[in-house]
Order: sequence, then C-alpha cells, then structure tokens
Amino acid sequence: MTPRWIWAEDYEAMSLAGAERAFSAIRRRLRERRPMLLGLATGNTMLRFYECLATVLNQSELDLSCLRTVNLDEYVGADGRWIPEGHPLSYRGYMQKHFFGRLDPRLKMDRGNIHFPDPERPAAIDEWIRDVGGLDFQLLGIGFNGHIGFNEPMGEATISAEAFAKLPSRVVGLEALTIETNARLTAGGDRSGVPRRAATLGMGTILAAREIVLLACFPQQRDPLRRVWGGRVTPELPASYLTGHADATIICADDQVRLRDEVQASQVARDSLAATGREAP
Ligand code: F6R
Repeated sequence: MTPRWIWAEDYEAMSLAGAERAFSAIRRRLRERRPMLLGLATGNTMLRFYECLATVLNQSELDLSCLRTVNLDEYVGADGRWIPEGHPLSYRGYMQKHFFGRLDPRLKMDRGNIHFPDPERPAAIDEWIRDVGGLDFQLLGIGFNGHIGFNEPMGEATISAEAFAKLPSRVVGLEALTIETNARLTAGGDRSGVPRRAATLGMGTILAAREIVLLACFPQQRDPLRRVWGGRVTPELPASYLTGHADATIICADDQVRLRDEVQASQVARDSLAATGREAP
C-alpha cells in the first residue's frame, strides 16, 4: 500500500534519494525508446535535488531529446499572465537557473519540450498531458498547510472528497499561509512582493501520474505529514490523496521532519493489532 515512507537522514540524503528515483525513471523510459513526461516542482526543498539530478544526467549517456517536462505551477500577475521569467519569484526562471541551465547541451534537452500551465488556457495542459499519454513521474513538495502544487486545502463542507480529487488545472488564489511562507523563504520577508495568484496543475492530472515522489525537509511539514500518515483522505489536506495511489513515495529528511520514530512506533502497534485480529477465533 502506498505511500511508501523513506526516512532519509538529512537534506543531502533526501535530495540524493529523490534524484536517484527520478533518474532511474527517466533512464528506464528512455532506454525503452519511449518518450517520457516528467512532472516537476520548484521551491526550497528541491534546490539540492536539481543539482544532484543535473549531475547524474550530465554523467550519463542519455539522449534527452524525447524528454518532455511539465511544471506544477507558475505565478500569475495582475494582468492574468505569467509573471516575467526574470521576476525573482518566477518558477520558469527558477527551473532555468537550478535545472535546465545546468544540463550539458550534449544531452539535447529540447527547450520546446518544457511546459508550464498557462493561465490564459489553464485546462489545455490537462488535455495535452492526456493526449501524450499522461505523466510518467511527478515530483512533489508539500506546503506547510498540506498543499500539493498550488491545490490549497478546501473545507469538506465546500467540496466532496471525490470532486476535489478531480480538480482540473486552473488559476487559483493563494492562501495567506502560502503567501506568508513564500515571502519569508523566497522574497526576503516582503509579502507585497509575492503574487496572489498562480496557475497550477489540478489534482486530477497530478494523481493520474504513474509514479509520484514527494520530498519533505522542513519541521513545519511534520504536522501535515503526520496527518497523511493517519490515512484519512480529505480536501482539507491535499497531500492526503497520495494515500492509496498505486505508486507514491514520500522521502523525508528526518533530522528536520522528525516523524520516523512516531510512525515506526505506530506501525508496530498497527501490525500487532492486525496480528491479534488474525489470531482471533
Ligand atoms: C512548487 C509547489 C509547491 C511546493 C511547496 C513546498 O512548485 O508546487 O507545492 O512544493 O509549497 O515548497 P518549499 O519547498 O519551498 O517548502
């Protein structure tokens, strides 16, 4: 049953474990001479991951001309379009700086194969992903409120669990906590510098990915992750939808998240309850 939990010792080990998974998914697919659609995330969590992934790709003999990527999200300005790539918070700029710009040209990564959800035609990306055969691998971070992509939590009275799981790609307003966190972590504390809206892949497209890997490395992610472990799937915790996915893995830097001991203790309790159940007459 997934998600599988992997307890990495620290940020470096988490980044390496995540990059190894992404690399082996890319290699497997490209060696079978099939195009690969890779779903990517941004954020502080992913900084070292991209360094590791670019290094291992650069050391490989892979030809990336059949690799297509789609990012989870990008901020939207007051004019309803992407903020400029040169904006310090732009995720297009982030990807160029931290990943694509690091790839050796010898790998033949085609810039035309790099995609982001378009705020002017947000549903078009869902159709396109379906048409090219779906996401092979989706990388995720987790918001301090449990969001994935910019699918923010919603109240159970507002939307059913089934409808939330099918949410399409769209333009969303960001929650106060997300604006606050992004201001602190990426905009030098300046809330006014953080755009209020973003184009995001929807839950439906994310959850349809064949493999999902979520990385986590901040103490503030402990609480949402703990609730994911609890197993209750709810729109109030978007990351809880990894529960029951056919192939989802959560890799935690446990020196920061500090959840391993608790999870392992409750796993022992769950297992012994199950064993008692089996032995009951
Ligand atoms: C980013 C994204 C977000 C982040 C999440 C964690 O593309 O979709 O869901 O993954 O907010 O961000 P960091 O890593 O900055 O804590």
